[in-house]
Amino acid sequence: MVPGARLIVLGKQGSGKGTQCTRLSHRYVVPHISTGDMLRVEVKSRTPLGLQARRYLDAGDLIPDEIVLAMVAARLDRDDTRTRGFVLDGFPRTVAQADGFDELLKPAVIDLVLNLVIPTEMVLARLVSRRVCEDCGAIYSTSVPPKLNWTCDVCGGEVVQREDDTEEAIKNRLDLYETQTAPLVARYAALDKLVDVSGVGTPDEVNLRLTSVIDAYQHGGGFFPPVPPEERP
Ligand code: AP5
Ligand code: MG
Repeated sequence: MVPGARLIVLGKQGSGKGTQCTRLSHRYVVPHISTGDMLRVEVKSRTPLGLQARRYLDAGDLIPDEIVLAMVAARLDRDDTRTRGFVLDGFPRTVAQADGFDELLKPAVIDLVLNLVIPTEMVLARLVSRRVCEDCGAIYSTSVPPKLNWTCDVCGGEVVQREDDTEEAIKNRLDLYETQTAPLVARYAALDKLVDVSGVGTPDEVNLRLTSVIDAYQHGGGFFPPVPPEERP
């Protein structure tokens, strides 16, 4: 088993973050932390956070930074992330989230930020055909559906269209990506953590590109060991 890894996957809507992070999580045995999936679970369970978050999600707006940071802080505190690390999907999404995340992580640091790059014209086609499992978040599309009647192959849940995969919400999400999230690309490049990876091609082709980058990093002596408990803040 490879040592734990602390990975961020960046990329605009429909670039394949969820699809690829699921695979990376299995290959490198690290938890897949998707803030979008976590928020959708809260909405479905009608928790106080979910009731508050719903209108943001449906409109494609960003949830306030302090709410997302508190949710991620709680998740990072669990044993699996402490010992194995994580592959982050959809977080951080703003400069304030990236700043807050650096503080949360100290004294540990990120290993790599993988930036999935696809042309914007491709986004709409992918998102309107996307279908997801309501229960576990597994991702399908109308061209690659589950085996049986829109029933999830992984957990048996119902496979549906996401509420925010409407043309209007997609446009809003893409605008927010440009203004709020794209600045993180330069931030992580300046820290020498960023690698651009083309998200065009089949999921297998994209996955091979990603794992080649990660494996090369690992063979170059990368991957920080878990921070021992006595060194945690
Ligand atoms: P989130 O769930 O993170 O959605 P997103 O950022 O809009 O990204 P997507 O999930 O749409 O795209 P993806 O890159 O994961 O693509 P996927 O793999 O599914 O966030 C949703 C909402 O939650 C936000 O709008 C916001 O309200 C809130 N939120 C979440 N995080 C937040 C944060 N940090 N701060 C504030 N608010 C936050 O692929 C898409 C489709 O393409 C699928 O059908 C898939 O099968 C297909 N596909 C994937 N790869 C390929 C390929 N190589 N070839 C062909 N098809 C492919
Ligand atoms: Mg996603």
